This record gives sequence, structure tokens and C-alpha cells, in this order.
Amino acid sequence: MIGIGSDHGGFELKQEIMKYLESKSIEYKDFGCYSVDSCDYPNIGKEVALAVSTKECEKGILICGTGIGMSMVANKVDGVRAALCGDCFSAEATREHNDANVLALGARVTGAGLALKIVDIFLNTPFSNDERHIKRISMF
Ligand code: RB5
Repeated sequence: MIGIGSDHGGFELKQEIMKYLESKSIEYKDFGCYSVDSCDYPNIGKEVALAVSTKECEKGILICGTGIGMSMVANKVDGVRAALCGDCFSAEATREHNDANVLALGARVTGAGLALKIVDIFLNTPFSNDERHIKRISMF
């Protein structure tokens, strides 16, 4: 189960991503927001991060205007390793090296086509399980 959330800035990209997940038969839970009305990204970011932290969701996807606020909020929650990605290389590397469990996207920065590729890579790239990466992750 993938937890997904956005603020108003990420609402439209979230709709695209949910359509994409449906087309791949990937189960998700939408934590809001549910319209383009202005709202506070920390509330939604925290909900998705907590769902990942408690293992209700195996991974999370958070979208705001820049992705920055959402990644800051998510990284405050224990056990969450959120990565703001605007390119495919980073999406792959953060799964392989950091075992990132939350992807943050900036809808005002990254177009929908690229964002969907990033989501695909994020969801399908396994953690390397290399000893050095396990050790480094355990250090924070
Ligand atoms: C909302 O205007 C904007 O601040 C938010 O979407 C996000 O970019 C914050 O980091």
C-alpha cells in the first residue's frame, strides 16, 4: 500500500499519479488534500509520514509546490527517509543507497511526464542491501 498526499500546490499532479498507480494496479491510500483550496502541507505530510513509520503504508509519495516543505515535514518522523527528487538518477540512487521510503515531488518544478517516471523508478528500484549503505542508514 502506497500512501499519497499533497497540498493544493500538488493536487493536480497527485491526480495524475493516482491515475498512474491505478493503471498499474498499485494500491494506494489518498491522505488528501481533496481540492485545490489552499491548505497546510505539514498536516498532510505528517499523516503520510506516520503511515509509513507505523508500516500502515510501505512507501509514501508527497507532493507540494516545490516538494521542499513536504520533505522537511516527512523527515521529522521517526523511521522516515524522505527524498525530494526532480530527476531519474536521484530517484534510483536514493532507493539503492538511502532506502528512501518517502518520495517528495515539486509540482511547480517537475512536469507530470518526468514525475511519473520518477514515481515508477522510486517504486520499482530495490534497496541495494550493501553493508556500507545499511551502516550509513543506521547512523541517523
Ligand atoms: C504553497 O504555496 C507552497 O508553499 C507549498 O506547496 C510548498 O511548495 C512548500 O514547500
